[in-house]
Amino acid sequence: MGLLVEMKNISKEFSGVKVLKNVNFELFEGEVHVLLGENGAGKSTLMKILTGIYEPTAGSIIINGKEYSKLSPKEAKENGISIIYQELSVVDALSIEENIFVGNLPTKKFLNLSIIDYEKLREKAKNILKEVGLNKDPRILVEELSISEKQLVEIAKALAQDAKIIIMDEPTSSLTMEETRNLFKIVNRLKKKNVGIIYISHKLKEIFEIGDRVTVLRDGEYIGTKEVKDVNEVMLINMMVGRELKSKYFDSTHTYLKKTEVIFEVKNLTRADKKVQNVSFKLYKGEILGFAGLIGAGRSELMNAIFGTAKISSGEIYLFGNRIFIDHPYAALKKGIALVPENRREMGFFPNFDIKQNISIIPFLKTSRFYGIWGLIDKNKEKQYATEQKKYLNIKCSSINQNIIELSGGNQQKVVIAKWLAANSNIIIFDEPTKGIDVGAKR
Ligand SMILES: Nc1ncnc2c1ncn2[C@@H]1O[C@H](COP(=O)(O)OP(=O)(O)OP(=O)(O)O)[C@@H](O)[C@H]1O
Ligand SMILES: [Mg+2]
Repeated sequence: MGLLVEMKNISKEFSGVKVLKNVNFELFEGEVHVLLGENGAGKSTLMKILTGIYEPTAGSIIINGKEYSKLSPKEAKENGISIIYQELSVVDALSIEENIFVGNLPTKKFLNLSIIDYEKLREKAKNILKEVGLNKDPRILVEELSISEKQLVEIAKALAQDAKIIIMDEPTSSLTMEETRNLFKIVNRLKKKNVGIIYISHKLKEIFEIGDRVTVLRDGEYIGTKEVKDVNEVMLINMMVGRELKSKYFDSTHTYLKKTEVIFEVKNLTRADKKVQNVSFKLYKGEILGFAGLIGAGRSELMNAIFGTAKISSGEIYLFGNRIFIDHPYAALKKGIALVPENRREMGFFPNFDIKQNISIIPFLKTSRFYGIWGLIDKNKEKQYATEQKKYLNIKCSSINQNIIELSGGNQQKVVIAKWLAANSNIIIFDEPTKGIDVGAKR
């Protein structure tokens, strides 16, 4: 097996803060090399250096026998490096086929002009969609797809580039079990073609299923590289966190709730678009009520309707025994109903705000009048809310004044959860809340 790429003594600083310290990483042909570490350990940053998005502060990258002190995105692409991003990068306003081939659309000559060869495009797109198991017309817009389908388009995009090195940054975070199975089949096929795969995931079980080797980072430091067959879950967790994690997420003393008081009730709820029909349930005080179903079964659609982001055509909602009417998320928030959405990038946070603003906006809106037009910002409270939550959820950041976009994926998710906790919500709807969250944080 030939060496595909070697990263040597890579360091990276962001305004003086060291996020990678002398990290080594190598990838061979036909191997799945897992990159593991807690939220904020530096995994995505290392991969952004490999794809030419970030320039390392020190170190070098050796690829195809050539040593680089940094790669440009173009050089990375020319060397066959492609990435499936943690935060989806598909463009909603483009069709599936355009997304797959963006940047290298097949062209044909028309008179003296190069124009897009849509026939060829469609043919190629159909083949790749088959390969990833997405049964959709390549001409439809990506905005019509669910998150998991978008993720499949993202994977299709990497396949279309005939990459030698494919980086998958949490590719299964919104896939079902069946879709994950399917992705693993694709990975195995790629291995046979000698493609090298760098695989980032917080789902430890997956590592044992498809990983060949695993490299662990902790706080930007290189901890070590092991053969997957030589390690177990406990060993990996110890390498990751540097101490023993006493229990997993389940509390062995867990006792099931005695149902006393119904605090929330939904009766015969139907959405205007019929994606949810005649759903009824009761929620008791102190209860955790789970909603199960396949992707497309209507779970998120139901929760979005309750939270006011989708129109209801019939049905009733009761909070503490009183009928309430929610036609807008603002109304839900005023009643103390919270939603941690499935897709944090699209609905979960305000990308131009810093951490403290993102956390305090919800408690401020909840207590202010007139949509918060008057007297919205109390600087001391803002600081207090954010400081409390940073500590409570262990949000890794340089300060609460840092822009949320600079946080690692898992830490962004913690901020999304933090704002609802800060608002003392009565009912919190968690839609896949542990997406991208490391083992310690899950617990
Ligand atoms: N553009 C940036 N500016 C400032 N700091 C940054 C920037 N990008 C990343 N960081 C910091 O670098 C550190 C590593 O982040 P990175 O995204 O690489 O973590 P990660 O291992 O991918 O975590 P996760 O599992 O949560 O995705 C974090 O502390 C993050 O806040
Ligand atoms: Mg990351």
